[in-house]
Amino acid sequence: MDFKGQHVLTTEQFDRKAVDQLIETAKSMEQFAKKGQRTDLMNGKILATLFFEPSTRTRFSFETAMIRLGGQVITNHDMLMTSSIKKGESLWDTGQVISRFADVIAMRHSKAGMVAELAKGSTVPVINAGDGPGDHPTQGLLDVYTIFREKGGLDGLKIGLIGDLKNSRVFHSEAKLFSQFKVKLILVSPPELAMPEEIIRLCQSRKIELMEAESVLDVISELDVISTNRIQEERFADRSTYERLKKSFIFDKKLLNEAKKEAILLNPLPRVDEIHPEIDVDPRCKYFEQVSYGVAVRMGLLKLVLGL
Ligand code: NCD
Repeated sequence: MDFKGQHVLTTEQFDRKAVDQLIETAKSMEQFAKKGQRTDLMNGKILATLFFEPSTRTRFSFETAMIRLGGQVITNHDMLMTSSIKKGESLWDTGQVISRFADVIAMRHSKAGMVAELAKGSTVPVINAGDGPGDHPTQGLLDVYTIFREKGGLDGLKIGLIGDLKNSRVFHSEAKLFSQFKVKLILVSPPELAMPEEIIRLCQSRKIELMEAESVLDVISELDVISTNRIQEERFADRSTYERLKKSFIFDKKLLNEAKKEAILLNPLPRVDEIHPEIDVDPRCKYFEQVSYGVAVRMGLLKLVLGL
């Protein structure tokens, strides 16, 4: 895929070839992604980060990536309250304006499709940093990258997606990316939080083995990759449903004892109830490593979309 000048709005844009290309580019960036390192590849280039929804990792990861590439960053982490959107400016106009300052934009919004809306008005590449329950391409890609780095690849692995499969954009992006490999996917959630039908259909069309389960105990011992994410509180219309489901899965020492010795456990963070801090020292838990890999992946993606 020729990434140059392209918006990155959905995970569907990444076929297997594009994923492989990004993995290779991210690998070549790892040497510069470390603390104290940088290249001057993006000298004179500017990244704008426009966040309409809370973030710790994703925004800082994009910004760190741009700085390590030798570029600079302009940011607004509270677009909803402090940008001209508050005065009624359209996303299209905002896209027009920001693309006169920046060479590339990373944007997050609480509503699916809104990043694409701003991209229509932008003359520079816009990267979706998470749009509501929709998609979160760079998180999905960094999860693929983490599995490559930790397990050597995805083919042949049994991967469990465990949690709020309905609302977590991370699970949506992961399912779309993981299903391009020869994996067995096991989807585990309470019935109310099942994976959207269209994503299940997409996975099925790729002829991978797919199974749905309700109990993590029934499947954990066969998993090579255990992907977890919090129940997405902010997406529930009804508070009492969230309260009832928020502790559906808790990964603690007892549960992890049932997993394979060489399994890995992923979580995009933030964690709330689903990961007990007592397992942080378990070498199978890779959630903080994911944060580091994410910088190299975003450096790789910035390099590709800017065609440098
Ligand atoms: C995730 C997100 O924002 O979707 N976090 C992240 O980007 N690292 C996961 C979440 O909020 O649960």
